[in-house]
Amino acid sequence: MENMSIDCVHTLGFLMRHVKPENTILDIGCGTGEVGYFLERTGYDSVHNIDILDLREFETKRFELYNGVNIPFENCWFDIVILSFVLHHVPNEKKRLLLEEAVRVTKGKLFILEDTPRNPIDRLFSYLHGTGYRRKIKSNEWFGFYRQKRWEQIFRELGPKILVSQKLSRFCRHKGAPFARSFFLLEKSEPLTQIPEN
Ligand SMILES: C[S@@+](CC[C@H](N)C(=O)[O-])C[C@H]1O[C@@H](n2cnc3c(N)ncnc32)[C@H](O)[C@@H]1O
Repeated sequence: MENMSIDCVHTLGFLMRHVKPENTILDIGCGTGEVGYFLERTGYDSVHNIDILDLREFETKRFELYNGVNIPFENCWFDIVILSFVLHHVPNEKKRLLLEEAVRVTKGKLFILEDTPRNPIDRLFSYLHGTGYRRKIKSNEWFGFYRQKRWEQIFRELGPKILVSQKLSRFCRHKGAPFARSFFLLEKSEPLTQIPEN
């Protein structure tokens, strides 16, 4: 088996506390596919990967390109939906739309890792990282890196319950990039069921 990167060890370390091998999992913005690949290798059999680009370096069983907003699955299809360092690359006016879609396709949890700048130096590095990606996909759309509190506000407005909102250590992932990051675990609230009148 290939060696797992430090970033993947970090992501799986969080993720595996919240998923069981029998769960259906969607990794939105899977990038290289490393997370899905190692999940499959460790017995997680129902992992779906989607992205707006095919950047795969790891062979996964299931991968689809999509338009960046409309997730090609039915309502409540997955036990858990992952957005790992994706939301800052999504143009601002599409962030909520994508999150609404993520909420729509999960019947349970949303697992989110995100760069959440805390000071002007973080902002500068985030900006450079973000413009590099925009150049790569030849897009002029405006993207933003939000602070942890701003994401919490957005998640509250969208509806899911925030189970965890955790500030992470700058050195939790690879040492060359000591970015400010946060982990969020959201849980979709049950829709109110109508009690039939007698
Ligand atoms: C920093 S990489 C993260 C990759 C992977 N999730 C990880 O944690 O290693 C960001 C990924 O988000 C993808 N992406 C950007 N906009 C997206 C969107 N609207 N929907 C899904 N993926 C998107 C990019 O193509 C890229 O693969």
